[in-house]
Amino acid sequence: MKKRLLSVLLIGAMALSLVACGGNNSSSSSSSDGNEAAAGDEKKVESNGKKVGVAMPTQSSERWIKDGDNMKKQLEALGYEVDLQYAEDDIPTQQSQLETMIAQGVNCLVVAAIDSGALVNVLDQAKQANIPVIAYDRLLMDTDAVSYYASFDNEGVGRKIGEYIETKADLANASEPQTIEFFMGSPDDNNAVLLHKGVMSVLQKYLDDGKLVCKSGRTSFEDTCILRWSQETAQQNCENYLTGFYADEDLDIACSAFDGFAYGIKAALEGAGYTADNWPLITGQDAEVMAVKNIVEGKQTQTIFKDTSLLAEKCVTMVQAVLEGSEPEINDTETYDNNKLVVPSYLCEPVSLDKDNYKELVIDSGYYTEDDINSAN
Ligand code: BGC
Repeated sequence: MKKRLLSVLLIGAMALSLVACGGNNSSSSSSSDGNEAAAGDEKKVESNGKKVGVAMPTQSSERWIKDGDNMKKQLEALGYEVDLQYAEDDIPTQQSQLETMIAQGVNCLVVAAIDSGALVNVLDQAKQANIPVIAYDRLLMDTDAVSYYASFDNEGVGRKIGEYIETKADLANASEPQTIEFFMGSPDDNNAVLLHKGVMSVLQKYLDDGKLVCKSGRTSFEDTCILRWSQETAQQNCENYLTGFYADEDLDIACSAFDGFAYGIKAALEGAGYTADNWPLITGQDAEVMAVKNIVEGKQTQTIFKDTSLLAEKCVTMVQAVLEGSEPEINDTETYDNNKLVVPSYLCEPVSLDKDNYKELVIDSGYYTEDDINSAN
């Protein structure tokens, strides 16, 4: 009985604070469901249904679509209302989507940033409005407005790519040098920096002792990063490397940080006349359905499988923690310093996938069907 009274009081207090937030900003609210804003507030109070704003970077890559779908499904299953938005890799769009969510009085924000350092002002607005923020997969930099971070072990992703190359190319025992080029992630994404660090923790020694030869000379993160993870730029870079440095000798290894890059590299290699006889080892990240198909067909060698439903599950426990006062599972309190604080994190385990284990990892687990893979294009 007492508990009941307490929750009625709490709901009343929440309703007042929602009205206060809405009152401050309502004139600038312009969400897609804006015409339901007033009714929406009533609904929140009636059902005690809290609203979570989920800001995703782009639908141009399959993984983020899966991430968004999983988050929405899992949050809705717990009774939360969800406003899921994609910004198509346009920073001002993501900023204004977040402003709109704040103006609508969402109760929590989950953000996978396009540019990890470009949201400082808008996240400050969230903080002023007492809206907790959770960083999804990409760390939010230079802000103290973030409560938790759910991701994968990003340096581990790079290490697994490096180890795969080390084993597959048998670098420890190889007597002939092998050529390699690097295609690294976006400079505004902290994950990309860590991935490069992980790759080099394994491969640097082979570059130093000459077992790996990078003919373009581009091995540093600054020289190999690709803004906004652009497939087109990866293809262009690969074409430039092939014409500039590999006229007389084949490229043996393309160390790519993303499945999208692997598609661009594949197109560049086909354009340059590479065939099954001299096709290089190509790595990737995300285990997109197209990448798995390419792996089955021998056009990509490996990728990193990151189970997005597991990531969503961990992130949802963080949402519950900030909204219901529960304890989320955290397994890292040291690594993710965003220049303002070390963000308490849960890091899921990335897994290397190739032709030998794809069935077990993505088919037997039900992540994809054989038909998804066969019909990918
Ligand atoms: C993610 C990767 C993804 C990349 C490009 C990174 O932040 O961690 O999984 O491949 O963005 O979308």
